[in-house]
Amino acid sequence: MNKDFLFLRACRGEQTERTPIWIMRQAGRYLPEYRAIREKTDFMTLCKTPELASEVTVQPIDIIGTDAAILFSDILVIPEAMGMDLEIVESKGPIFDKPLRSAADIDKLDTENVVERLEYVMQAIKMTKEKLAGRVPLIGFSGAPWTLATYMVEGKGSKSFEIIKSLIYREPATAHKLLQILADSVVEYLNAKIRAGADAVQIFDTWAGNLTPSDFEEFSLRYLKYICDRIETHGVPVIVFAKGVGNMNSLADLKCDVLGVDWTKDIGAVKAEIGGRKVLQGNLDPCVLFAPKERIRIETEKILRAFSTGSGHVFNLGHGILPKTPVENAKYLVDCVKELSIKQNEQTIGQS
Ligand code: CP3
Repeated sequence: MNKDFLFLRACRGEQTERTPIWIMRQAGRYLPEYRAIREKTDFMTLCKTPELASEVTVQPIDIIGTDAAILFSDILVIPEAMGMDLEIVESKGPIFDKPLRSAADIDKLDTENVVERLEYVMQAIKMTKEKLAGRVPLIGFSGAPWTLATYMVEGKGSKSFEIIKSLIYREPATAHKLLQILADSVVEYLNAKIRAGADAVQIFDTWAGNLTPSDFEEFSLRYLKYICDRIETHGVPVIVFAKGVGNMNSLADLKCDVLGVDWTKDIGAVKAEIGGRKVLQGNLDPCVLFAPKERIRIETEKILRAFSTGSGHVFNLGHGILPKTPVENAKYLVDCVKELSIKQNEQTIGQS
């Protein structure tokens, strides 16, 4: 039955009657229903309580009507499970009190049985599937090694990335050691999520675009490939979102089904560049959702038209939805994609 979900069919490159849409970070602070739960519960408790995590996961399905759910969690649960103390501070984002600064710090990470300590995520997947009751499929996710290492070494978000980059230039072997530990955990983690019932998985490499092209190959792409080669998919689509990567062609040989496209790119040009080898996901600028409705509609149509006819498009934003986004605009976007893409897809079906 899972095989018939619109989103999953689009991920496999099959023809669909319209373009499916989900939104990165769709379970989050722009929803008053999410904020109500967060007022009473700190972030990690929310992640670690399957009853609440599953409730928050389903909220956007009920409220804005997206075609897939993404499990409420965070990419940083992996470092947390390795023993790093994670705090999410309002308006500052994630903070690790004791970031990794040396090979000795990396040696202290608890890297054995990490996925066993993430059993709460698997419970949340099972509970979410019950709550979804077959309405839409569930996406599981992980951070990519490069993005995880960035937070673990910097200790927080960064503009210049000078601490993690100093590590790759001064002690490349230490950086590779950390990236390899993370890559092995991500493989195990995603495989466990698929076994627990995730219908698709996405790998977020949010900071891939901060590397030079050759460093990207060495410190990011190499590990994305390692992971994609080892996921036991059992037919579940794999999505790679490597934000800010200039040369999308470098990602096209990965053993994955879908590539996420950020909003700085023309999705039609990316489609031409990678020649239909991957389904594409994206790529509305999240800030368009602050515009009046007429403009949201125009920008949505632009993306549908840029992708043009043909199968293989999953609509999404080019990065996560922002906390101040008006809910009615998010819902309007979902409605626009559902309405406008029918025409696009009819033309496709007509051509074949
Ligand atoms: O997409 C979803 O709805 C599922 C949930 C999800 C969260 N984080 C919940 C969250 C997902 C997929 C993530 C991924 C994530 N987390 C990424 C990769 C995606 C991206 O947007 O680049 C990254 C880099 C992180 C690390 C992280 N966690 C950051 C930067 C923040 C702060 C965000 C902010 O705007 O302050 C978090 C915390 C976080 N993770 C929140 C949510 C809803 C906000 C925390 C809160 O409720 O106070």
